[in-house]
Amino acid sequence: MNTLKFPKNFYWGAGTSAHQVEGGNDNDWTDWEKENAVRLAKSAARKYSKVVPDWNGIKMQATDPGNYISGRACDHYALFESDFDIMESLGFNAYRFSVEWSRVEPVKGRFDNRALAHYKSMVDSLKDRGIEPFVTFNHVTLPKWFRDLGGWDSKSAPVLFSRYVKRVVKILRGVKFWLTINEPIITISNYLLGIFPPQKKSVFSCFRAFNNIVASHKMAYAVIKKLNKNSQVSIVSHITFFEAYKNRLFNCLVASSLNYLWNFRLLDKLSGYMDFIGVNYYFHTRINYGVSWCDNPVSDMGWALCPEGIYFILKALKKYNLPIIITENGLADARDKYRSWYIHGILKSVHRAISEGVDVRGYLHWSLLDNFEVDKGFWPRFGLVEVNYKTLKRIIRPSAVKYSDIIKANSIVLE
Ligand code: BGC
Repeated sequence: MNTLKFPKNFYWGAGTSAHQVEGGNDNDWTDWEKENAVRLAKSAARKYSKVVPDWNGIKMQATDPGNYISGRACDHYALFESDFDIMESLGFNAYRFSVEWSRVEPVKGRFDNRALAHYKSMVDSLKDRGIEPFVTFNHVTLPKWFRDLGGWDSKSAPVLFSRYVKRVVKILRGVKFWLTINEPIITISNYLLGIFPPQKKSVFSCFRAFNNIVASHKMAYAVIKKLNKNSQVSIVSHITFFEAYKNRLFNCLVASSLNYLWNFRLLDKLSGYMDFIGVNYYFHTRINYGVSWCDNPVSDMGWALCPEGIYFILKALKKYNLPIIITENGLADARDKYRSWYIHGILKSVHRAISEGVDVRGYLHWSLLDNFEVDKGFWPRFGLVEVNYKTLKRIIRPSAVKYSDIIKANSIVLE
């Protein structure tokens, strides 16, 4: 038996986002949900019956329009203390959550002190428990007024976003780690493909959104650093491992172009404006005169589970010479069949990268709780903790207990 130790003070925990767990939100996505719930329920069988391994198990939920309305979600807004009790019992020393912009600034320029006080009490409670907060300012959803101005496609986005950031930072004084925007690469696709809010369909819009996000991050970075020079700021990057199959020349060319466009272009633009890199890892894509998954088992959403890919990503990110926090990694797995195996495999790969000199400082599993998986609703079960959406009861999954053992030992054991 071989034990792989993680560095001292490694951050262990999980993440959530406001819209996916809080309940009671009113933003651009809640409008979209109301408009699209019936359509999404009707198209579920066509979309998922062939891809989802346990289609029969989720069919009832996935074909019900109610599944596509975020509504009260997990009611984490009211139940955060007891959710924090669970994290504490599992030995977490870090928690990533997001502040909901539409709550804090429901009307342009008018800030809601009660909402700000709520997030402050979350931070205080985490600090009292010895859990380090990692706070995201924008995770997918936008206030409706900001959407109406054009969202990230608006010229005023950087100024408006930074004003909101400033307000939050002034109140949440105890926070050290800030994440400005979650997965810009996914966000900008909503300005190109026209499917999700703000449902724009223009290449120009997509480019402008990208540039405005870059500018917004930079401006927010300056604002945060001015208020607290010791804070650590990053953006959250969705990084995919593009594997060039058998190193064939054509595959290598495609993989390196995708690597640049999808993974590195944003990080290159933000050079000098990040104190660490926030990495979300879900996909390992094989390029072999086309695009396919690696051959491993798939999650409930049909996504291939390839823990090795994260090693290559971490190695590639070493060139930025910055600490790395894995801000998201996880799987939809209602039966908790693969979660432990996957976490173990991921951590083995992370450890391999660390042992080769990559400065990885933390792993935040996605997610703490089952949650509202935006356009798919509640059927995908990403939680270390299961949520019964009728009673709101939380049940700790066996994989969470195993994860907790890893955390408490600060190591994984190879059998
Ligand atoms: C997003 C999460 C989402 C997860 C699983 C990530 O890209 O940041 O909000 O729930 O993927 O799909």
